Amino acid sequence: MSQNSLDMLRRRIEDLDVALLKLLNERAAVSVQIGKLKAQDGLSVYDRLREEAVYGYLLEHNQGPLKTSEINRIFSNIISVSRRLQSTGDHEARGRSADDTATRAVSGNTSVYGILGNPVTQSMSPVMHNAAFRLLGIDAIYLPFEVHDVRGAIVGMRALQIRGASVTHPFKTSIPGLIDEIDATAREVGAVNTLVLEGNSIRGSNTDWAGAVRCIQGLLPIKDNRFVVVGAGGAARAVVFGITREGGKITLVNRTRDKGLPLAEAFGLPFVPLAEIEKVSGECLINTTPVGMYPNIGEMPVPKGVLSRYKAVVDVIYNPLKTRLLKEAEAAGCLVTNGVDMFVYQGAEQFRLWTGKEPPVELMRDVVVDALAQGQSD
Ligand SMILES: NC(=O)c1ccc[n+]([C@@H]2O[C@H](COP(=O)([O-])OP(=O)(O)OC[C@H]3O[C@@H](n4cnc5c(N)ncnc54)[C@H](OP(=O)(O)O)[C@@H]3O)[C@@H](O)[C@H]2O)c1
Repeated sequence: MSQNSLDMLRRRIEDLDVALLKLLNERAAVSVQIGKLKAQDGLSVYDRLREEAVYGYLLEHNQGPLKTSEINRIFSNIISVSRRLQSTGDHEARGRSADDTATRAVSGNTSVYGILGNPVTQSMSPVMHNAAFRLLGIDAIYLPFEVHDVRGAIVGMRALQIRGASVTHPFKTSIPGLIDEIDATAREVGAVNTLVLEGNSIRGSNTDWAGAVRCIQGLLPIKDNRFVVVGAGGAARAVVFGITREGGKITLVNRTRDKGLPLAEAFGLPFVPLAEIEKVSGECLINTTPVGMYPNIGEMPVPKGVLSRYKAVVDVIYNPLKTRLLKEAEAAGCLVTNGVDMFVYQGAEQFRLWTGKEPPVELMRDVVVDALAQGQSD
């Protein structure tokens, strides 16, 4: 191909990109208008059936070389932006600024939910659950509660009729003794991350394991595959329970034998000290330790040399979105995923338990990734 024709084709691409940008801006302006109309009629921004219909008619009209998966990928980004723009239209129509998103719906009827932990300042749960409440038009608010007295917090939850709560570090294993009922799964996992208030009674559940399963299944099937799980804390417990339940085989690896061995024995797993990790292998390595989490982003939980033994590597950390472990694993040719999906799916299951409604998972993921990316760029 001559340089002239290459230059000509590149100019054509540039013209098309400018035309596309103009069309996308026109589409954006229409989205804002739709947001205003939905706000006037009290309709939710998120409309699953409508979004599915968009993919349907696009595929019907596709006559070019784009594959279905490529169209879906492109339009899932456009639709995600559209939702945000519709929310902007909603704010404008109600004469409010984008900053008072969380509080604008509060009235005497508003149900209160929250997260119990310490610390909670970095938690992504408020942004995720408030977005889901708002987009489904549910009159509820989700707040961070930095807990200094966990027993008092449980008494307060009943007294104040807080409808539901997430439980996070360091209370997941101590809270079961303080509540009225624990479901069978949370009992088996050995930790509670979700509280539901019914009347005056508080029931504890665990959704972390379901989040872990969905996260891993996005990368490879669990059944009959071999997993090496590094760590023996709360996250490891949920991961081990989820993989065991789905028929995967696990070797548990931990820095200290004191903590690793009891977890391995509770689930009937082989235990290997972290110092001997070169002796084990499998299809998938899962890091459940905080090693590599912000601000210690240069650290790795395992030596780089072992990564090429695995097809896939999961890191339950989501801050940063790509840890050093995942970067090195990608360089070693592994499939990788971070902890965002685990977090979002555990939250989606909480939302289902609290509201009985189908959670807007894609939207929940979008707001979490946006908030994390924002934090990482600040
Ligand atoms: N994506 C999600 O939804 C999700 C959910 C829960 C947790 N997480 C993340 O998972 C991580 C762990 O949380 P957790 O609640 O399980 O913590 P945890 O209960 O405190 O357990 C931490 C585990 O990591 C090991 N560990 C800590 N520092 C280490 C080091 N320098 N070298 C080797 N091993 C080390 C500990 O080993 P020892 O036993 O030897 O001390 C322990 O087994 C955190 O980063 C948390 O943010 C993510």
